[in-house]
Amino acid sequence: MTTTFHSNRAMNIDESSMTNSDTNTNAENWTPASWRARVALQQPTYPDLAALEHVQNELSLLPPLVTSWEILALKKQLAEAQEGKRFLLQGGDCAESFSDCESGLISNRLKVLLQMSLVLVHGLRLPVVRVGRFAGQYAKPRSTDTETKDGIILPSYRGDFINQPEFTEAARMPDPRRMVKGHARSAMTMNFVRALIDGGFADLHHPEYWDLDWVSHSPLSDEYHKMVEAVGNAVRFMETISGSDLNNLNRADFYTSHEALLLPYEEALTRKVPRQNGWFNLSTHFPWIGMRTADIDGAHTEYFRGIRNPIAIKIGPSVTPDQLLKLADVLNPENEAGRLTFIQRMGAAKVTEKLPPLIKAIQSEGKKVLWVCDPMHGNTESTSNGYKTRRFDNIRSELDQSFDVHAALGSRLGGVHLELTGENVTECLGGARELTETDLERAYTSTVDPRMNYEQSLEIAMLIVRKRSAISI
Ligand code: PEP
Ligand code: CO
Repeated sequence: MTTTFHSNRAMNIDESSMTNSDTNTNAENWTPASWRARVALQQPTYPDLAALEHVQNELSLLPPLVTSWEILALKKQLAEAQEGKRFLLQGGDCAESFSDCESGLISNRLKVLLQMSLVLVHGLRLPVVRVGRFAGQYAKPRSTDTETKDGIILPSYRGDFINQPEFTEAARMPDPRRMVKGHARSAMTMNFVRALIDGGFADLHHPEYWDLDWVSHSPLSDEYHKMVEAVGNAVRFMETISGSDLNNLNRADFYTSHEALLLPYEEALTRKVPRQNGWFNLSTHFPWIGMRTADIDGAHTEYFRGIRNPIAIKIGPSVTPDQLLKLADVLNPENEAGRLTFIQRMGAAKVTEKLPPLIKAIQSEGKKVLWVCDPMHGNTESTSNGYKTRRFDNIRSELDQSFDVHAALGSRLGGVHLELTGENVTECLGGARELTETDLERAYTSTVDPRMNYEQSLEIAMLIVRKRSAISI
């Protein structure tokens, strides 16, 4: 994208926050807009650049969605995950849609994530870092810029931040005003999640708050409820011997993440804050770079190198050890703990071949990174009846193999990144209920990638616990 627009956010700078003794100031020659001098892949072509500029100015004055101290608290937790003292659970929809900004969908997704985290805390005996793929997951990379149907060529649907999925010219035209709407939907989502959590929704004394209607019929229900009981007993035991409530169990920290793909939006939410050095992306706690935009010289890498958030980058099977080290150098030149997460997404068939050289390269250079497995995106396939799906067995297998590969090399898989929903969808094949291709027709609602449903997600959490205990790390 080559626009001449330059941000006016410098005017919002709180000068008092700038000191010379700062080791965490901006990266050299970096500004929130310096990505504009690089090739920015996967950006829409907006028909009206003046409208885009207007929207960016409006966004840059709106309140941020998260705070710098939350961001730094998460960075500390991720540093602990790097040391094996925590486990990262990151999950949510492939793409949120504006129409899904609805209380039931948001709370069901939160329930699944809380249940999974309870299973993990109980089984791994480790605190879990909970990160949602929500409150801003509105922009999607696409394999082609256009889509053709019956001889008509239209721009591809790039996520609700950009355009709409219907195949009409009006719906597919990129509209920058959608960024303002997306910011508001993100704020509403975040507000609801924060209110639920502050109100005690995540309280370990009340796991029944997280029960979903259809859970009692699940084949996994007994095992889950046994764990709930065990955790409840442990909580009561600790309270009895300490003589007080375990208040810190009343609330669970919950962080947000999204693929920071649409750079004009991310730039507009990049701010300086009082009494902190450097710049923060205040649209989310934990942005990530997608696989298709992870080029070392690309605009996304340029943008990410200058923000102080913890950041993640998706690593696919074509990345070489040399490229990986260069990315680590550019994105984390000070080798700061908690700063950099690699989300490996190789596919079940390739992970044992592709992962070891990457791990060894990172080890040989002493780079501090958190390795997280996304067992979803390397395992997508199409069925004969035309559905995009993933097989539970492949998801499970990539995770299993990843744990083994890391353990064999004395490295550590410190988390998972999953596409899931709290709804009773039928989008991925297999799992405890052995969903088949014909089941896909029943409840397939994703507009982009297939997600695990509640039961498949819980099963994955249980499998992680079993696997990790088996390799005893
Ligand atoms: C995604 O996370 O939805 C995605 C597009 O992933 P990747 O960049 O790994 O392909
Ligand atoms: Co996806």
